Amino acid sequence: MTTVPHLRTEIPGPRSRALHAQRLAAVASGFGITLPVFVASAGTSTLEDVDGNTFIDLASGIAVTSVGAANPVVREHVAAQLDLFTHTCFMVTEYEGFVRVAEWLNAHTPGDFEKRTALFSTGAEAVENAVKIARAHTGRPGVLVIDEGYHGRSLLTLAMTAKEHPYKTSFGPFPHDVVRGPNANPLRGGAAEAALAELEQLVVTHGADHFAALVVEPIQGEGGFVVPAPGFLVGLRELADRYGIVLVIDEIQSGLGRTGRLFASEYEGIAGDLTLTAKALGGGLPLSAVTGRAEIMDAAHAGGLGGTYAGNPLACAAALAVFEILEDPALLPRVQRIERAIRDHLEPLLDEIGAVAEVRGRGAMMAVEFADPVTLAPRADLAQQISAACHAAGVLTLTCGTYGNVIRLLPPLVIEEAVLETGLRILATSIRSIAAEEAAA
Ligand SMILES: Cc1ncc(COP(=O)(O)O)c(C=O)c1O
Repeated sequence: MTTVPHLRTEIPGPRSRALHAQRLAAVASGFGITLPVFVASAGTSTLEDVDGNTFIDLASGIAVTSVGAANPVVREHVAAQLDLFTHTCFMVTEYEGFVRVAEWLNAHTPGDFEKRTALFSTGAEAVENAVKIARAHTGRPGVLVIDEGYHGRSLLTLAMTAKEHPYKTSFGPFPHDVVRGPNANPLRGGAAEAALAELEQLVVTHGADHFAALVVEPIQGEGGFVVPAPGFLVGLRELADRYGIVLVIDEIQSGLGRTGRLFASEYEGIAGDLTLTAKALGGGLPLSAVTGRAEIMDAAHAGGLGGTYAGNPLACAAALAVFEILEDPALLPRVQRIERAIRDHLEPLLDEIGAVAEVRGRGAMMAVEFADPVTLAPRADLAQQISAACHAAGVLTLTCGTYGNVIRLLPPLVIEEAVLETGLRILATSIRSIAAEEAAA
């Protein structure tokens, strides 16, 4: 492999700039863009653009290409399916891949109980269907969600997503019966007991039989990779049990090996009544799932769930390849080494640079938050500048967080150690040099 990153032009290069101009004339402007380069091909943990520049990928297409964007096992499985058929619609005639994916998820999602799975295409669809199923099971309307949470961009999931701009601005009104309760965000003083007490108060105020579902991410994704204070998730499990609420664990970003365990909820030893997966599930093809207690899942009547593309055969073939890769006993230890490497590079900055407020996360779902050292006022400007410096140096990073002041790292789980080291060195250097420029100004 040539040394990466490998930059042959300024970023973006001339071909990407020309294509971007065409994009502006053809594509709705509602789509944002992190780095306006056009990808021509991908390696295990690299992306090559149309100008011949090669980037280190610390984004995985927002936690989708966990096994790499060009994994040969995924390609083989999908190519074999492509030779047979591309689609039948599972509601019209059946195919085996759908059943095999459901069986694997039933066997591997947390919870030692009988399960069923329903497949869809996008994460938002899985969230919406979990709410439908919980309502059908409980006969109740309400949905309880957590501050700083993100669950998608469809209208119901936008009602559940916390961040106003850019996700919700001008798109309301949103479905009602969605209530948001406090988060237990340790950096910002959120203690588990206080948040849980407030959430219980919300449940009681709305009526003990109001809420069908409590939906939570075990580590918040878009909200800033917030690992909740210890005891929060266990407390939510108990709260849901006390009031007969269906606990829906949204593992769409954190699941399937991303955090160094198959599911992030395993760290707290809890199981959702329903567990949601998407993103990494399809190895880059659109696939999502609701998996959970058989008696809850089967509360939805025949014909009540589905969708033309739900559980597309090519996406199911890709998922079966992803499962094969996840079952390699070397993979999860490798993800834990990714966390170690990230901490080794970034934690020293906590003492060195006042605006580095926290390094957090688990496995290959890690983030660094920038804030004023005294007031903790978010420093989105720093996160943006540092991310831009990484892009210019050939490392693809993403920002996130309710205030946009967090850089998140989502490398493919299969990233080569040397490539990760290089990417992290470039990130740490960018943080140091931008902090030094600010100190000198
Ligand atoms: C935790 C979580 N839930 C739901 C979604 C929505 O998934 P999709 O964009 O596939 O609809 C996302 C996407 O980022 C997510 O991170």
